[in-house]
Parts: sequence; C-alpha cells; structure tokens
Amino acid sequence: MKVLMKGNEAIAEAAIRAGCDAYFGYPITPQTEVLEYMARRMPELGRAFVQAESELGAINMVYGAACTGTRVMTTTSSPGYSLMQETMSYISMSFVPCVIVNIMRGGPGLGNIQPAQGDYFQMTKGGGHGDYNLIVLAPSTVQETVDLVIDKRSILLKLSTLRDHDDYTYTHSVNVSILAICLGQHIGLTKNTLETLGICGLFHDLGKVDIPLKILNKQGKLTDDEFKVIQKHSLNSVRHIAKIRAPRELKSKIMLAPFEHHLKYDLSGYPRSWRSEPVSLFGRILTIVDVFDAITSARVYRSEAISPDQALRMMSENAGKDFDPILLKAFINMLGVYPIGTLVELDTGEMGLVSENPEQSDGTHPLVTILIPEDGQSYTRGETVDLSERETPGGRYKRSVSKTFNPALFGIQPSEFII
Ligand SMILES: [Fe+2]
Repeated sequence: MKVLMKGNEAIAEAAIRAGCDAYFGYPITPQTEVLEYMARRMPELGRAFVQAESELGAINMVYGAACTGTRVMTTTSSPGYSLMQETMSYISMSFVPCVIVNIMRGGPGLGNIQPAQGDYFQMTKGGGHGDYNLIVLAPSTVQETVDLVIDKRSILLKLSTLRDHDDYTYTHSVNVSILAICLGQHIGLTKNTLETLGICGLFHDLGKVDIPLKILNKQGKLTDDEFKVIQKHSLNSVRHIAKIRAPRELKSKIMLAPFEHHLKYDLSGYPRSWRSEPVSLFGRILTIVDVFDAITSARVYRSEAISPDQALRMMSENAGKDFDPILLKAFINMLGVYPIGTLVELDTGEMGLVSENPEQSDGTHPLVTILIPEDGQSYTRGETVDLSERETPGGRYKRSVSKTFNPALFGIQPSEFII
C-alpha cells in the first residue's frame, strides 16, 4: 500500500521505524509538523516524547539521553538550530550519537535568512565551541531523506558496537575506510563507488565482536585453536552486515570485500575455498590498506609500530603474491616514497617527521616538520620545511633525506607533532 506523506511526517515516521526511542523538541516553523507527529505516535508506542521549554532545553535533553545510549532525536529549523549549536559542540566532542534534523527556514528570521548565506555554513561549519566536525547529510528528496534517516543510523550504531568491544579495532576500521577511499579516489573510482568502498572498510572487521578479548588482544603467539577463532571473523563480518537494518541492495554490495579481506592476491590466506576467480577489486584494496594500517600501528602484542616507509618496502616484497601489484604501486604512489609520519634524517643533520606530500610533487621531496631535541630525551616541534626548495643560485636542493628511522625507536609518536 502506498501512503502519501508530507516530508516532515515522512521524517518522523522514518525515525520511528529506525527505532528512535526518545524525541525531544520545541516547535518552530517549518518543522513543527515533525513535533506534532512525534507527539502523537511516540506515546502510542510507549516511547519518550517531551516538548521542551525551548530549543536549548530540547538539545540538552538529547545530549543527556544520547549519553545513556538511547536512540534519540530532535528536529528544529534554522534559527532554532543556531540556538542548539553550543550543546551540539559538546555532543560532538563527547562522541555520542544522536540525530538532529534541520528543516531549513529561508525567509523571515534575524537579519533575514538566505539559504546561501546562512544555512549551508550553519550545518557544515558548526558554530559551537572548538574545531568539531558533524556528519551532515543533505537529501534532496523526501524519499532520500527517509532512506538516510533509516540507513545511516543503523550503520553508525553498528559501528559503535565495534567501538564498545575493542577500541583498537574501531580505530583500525576507520583508518582502513579512509585509506581505502583515498586509494579508490586515486585510481579514479566514482563518488558512489567510493561511498560503498568506505562502508566496506568500516565493516570489514565487524566479525571481531565475536572474538573474546583475551584472544583478540593476546600477547605472544596464538595457539592453533585460537587462530581458528580469529579466522572466523571474515565470515562473521558478513553475518553481522546481513543483520544491519539497511536496504538489501546496499547490504549485498558491502558483503563481499569484508569476506575477502584476508584472502591474498594469489588466493592463499583465509577463508580457504576452491574458488579460482580473482579477489574482487574492493577485496584487493582492503587487503592492502588493512595490512598497511595494521603493521604501522602499535599493538598490545607488538609494542613497536613499523614505520610507514618500512611497511611499504615490506609489502612490496610480497607484490603479486599477497597484494595486487598494480594497486600496491598506486598505493605507494599515493602515499609517496616517504609517507606522512616517516621519521627522517636530513643531509643537514636535522631530524624531522614527514608531515605532507604535496600532490604535485614526485613523492621524494615532502614537507618535513623539524624536531628539536630537548634534554636528550624528548623533542619539540620546530619549523616545517619544504624539501622541494632549491638554493639560488645553484639549483641544488636545500635539504634532502639521507636516512629514515622507525619513530618508535626514538620514543616519538608522530601524531603529537604533525596533527
Ligand atoms: Fe580482519
């Protein structure tokens, strides 16, 4: 049966179907219809609805509820949204999930509200305290709005389950997603394909929620039985993806690569099968970025991370066996010969960390943040120098890399200096 709904009602209904447990809001045109719909339906379903005394009241209730793990939502319109922004910055800094819908108002308001002038920046640039970033989705149709409210919430919540289980796996999954998107973009994949690839990266290790932490974080060698438990996680990732509340079409697109991410280019690895068809493109991308992120991170069972340039050299030795040689070349080309975070010694005797690889450079002349030694044990951040700068006259490079080191050997955490 088809039901015709207005956009505001459709958003409210989508939130209810996505499992919204609590709604707090304050009426303001043109979003008041969402509030009216929720006022009627939420109590019928035995869920929480409160009309707050103001937008400030509503957003602070949202903050409190989100901190308890409740699926909570509010809606407002542009001038109400600006009132909520301070608390939004707290919510963002606390990393608690909630949904805030801005049914934008163009027209009457303080100083008149023009969409191009206020709303876009209001949504994307924040307005509260600090440099926080919001996940902003901007649907253009009612159907897209409904799909986003239902899909993305389930997806983000699933990810937070992974974070609850093991913080490292969560961080690793976000890194894999970012690196996969960067590599995908580097080889020219379309925007829609990149989105799907990014979700594959986020969920590739979802099956690790089933692995007991004592095995997942074990120091020392795993027994055969423990390794068998670890090996199950690729298939379990697929099982968990199948359970996400999202359209079947999306789920079918994001299952294969997590299943394949420990299958090597030559089809060794796990899960073992008799297949002869090659690993999919997404699977081959995940294998590369997964290994790169894993070996360049410190873990409980390996206190020292391998430096990024060393990791790329090690991976190159297995090109054509573990990794797709062409994709690996593209990955190295993307990161540069000295990837960001590499500790280098320059021919001037200075030490520094590679902080940027300009796109137009050949990868051998990055920007380097100089480290100034202090009391022989620690370092402070010095100036950032550009290794592509040449002397005039003469044309020789002012500084060049003479050696690379593993930052861990010097007790240096690159992120402290270059972020
Ligand atoms: Fe994995």
